[in-house]
Amino acid sequence: MSSVLNTLFSPFELAGLPLDNRLVMAPMTRSLSPGGVPGSDVAAYYRRRVEGGLGLVITEGTTIGDPSASSDINVPEFYGQNPLAGWKKVVDEVHDAGGKIMPQLWHVGSMRRPGQGHHPDVQSASPSGMTSPGKKKFEPMTAGDIERAITAFADAAREAQDLGFDGIEIHGAHGYLIDQFFWAGTNERTDEYGGSLSQRTKFVTDIVRAIRAEVGSNYPIVLRYSQWKQQDFEARLAETPNELASFLEPLVDAGIDAFHCSTRRFWEPEFEGSDLNLAGWTKKLTGKTTITVGSVGLDDEFVSSLSGKNADTSGVSRIEELAKRLDREEFDLIAVGRAVLVDPQWANKIRDSRFDELEPYTPEALGFLS
Ligand SMILES: Cc1cc2nc3c(=O)[nH]c(=O)nc-3n(C[C@H](O)[C@H](O)[C@H](O)COP(=O)(O)O)c2cc1C
Repeated sequence: MSSVLNTLFSPFELAGLPLDNRLVMAPMTRSLSPGGVPGSDVAAYYRRRVEGGLGLVITEGTTIGDPSASSDINVPEFYGQNPLAGWKKVVDEVHDAGGKIMPQLWHVGSMRRPGQGHHPDVQSASPSGMTSPGKKKFEPMTAGDIERAITAFADAAREAQDLGFDGIEIHGAHGYLIDQFFWAGTNERTDEYGGSLSQRTKFVTDIVRAIRAEVGSNYPIVLRYSQWKQQDFEARLAETPNELASFLEPLVDAGIDAFHCSTRRFWEPEFEGSDLNLAGWTKKLTGKTTITVGSVGLDDEFVSSLSGKNADTSGVSRIEELAKRLDREEFDLIAVGRAVLVDPQWANKIRDSRFDELEPYTPEALGFLS
């Protein structure tokens, strides 16, 4: 292994939680928990990725106990006796294999179509009743709806702690409920949950404070956020570093320990005039732990240059660029999604320089993975 790659395997402490290395399994929905209950196959799936060398698992999005949180009855839930008993098995398998794990707590908001999920009769939730800018489909959440959702997030975090999870991640990205509050295009509220970018963080800061009241000060809370939305890949919350700072400040004040900055390609600069990506800017502006993500291990050049199959590859492969950025402390942790779906042993193979053995990612491979 080239020495720069050693950095990926250096230990780290996330808000007091010791991690063996810098590699994190990104949250990835599978819809393989019938009736919302994760089975022993799900526990085995996560165990395999821990045995494959990842320092921290962030689970697939798992829905909180608000009736409209889920749009898919095969997505695991995070409330109720049977789903929580299933999650307990997952935690135990991961810990038995020496890993760390956090659930990604999720409310899909208005991405849920009428009739979907475990409670088909309830209305979908969103700040202003919109699925995307200009598309008003529902009634906006009432103050009572907001209160109930906040409580459901806090309850889920308390359950996570009770089950032995090592922290929690709040899903605030990709155009789901929390992001619908962040995004001006879907938040036209005139009460305390709307207004400027900084004011639009109130929903999540209320959630974080409610979670803290349940779990205490020494339990890691990670927030995943993104500029891009699945409704619009080009959407942005912040156009400048100053705007980003105004967004992040209230989140830090509320007690978030780490930011998981979701981008589609980690090497893309977030703002003109600097190479820093979103995780880089977030760390620079807040001093907090950040996780980067986006196409790690997916470029063709990656496999070919590491395995020596492409003698013409000049320059530094993307993984070396990634490790150099980590070494410069641009960010602290690296989440890997699709590459570890297709190859559970991905991290170990990188660590042991078994580059020839890396399974190449293909979109088709995602359908039948265990
Ligand atoms: C099949 C699939 C399911 C995903 N599900 C989630 C999810 O539940 N929560 C989430 O925040 N992101 C989800 N994502 C996004 C990933 O966490 C990750 O950010 C994205 O795939 C980019 O990382 P990669 O290029 O390493 O795959 C999903 C991605 C894929 C491919």
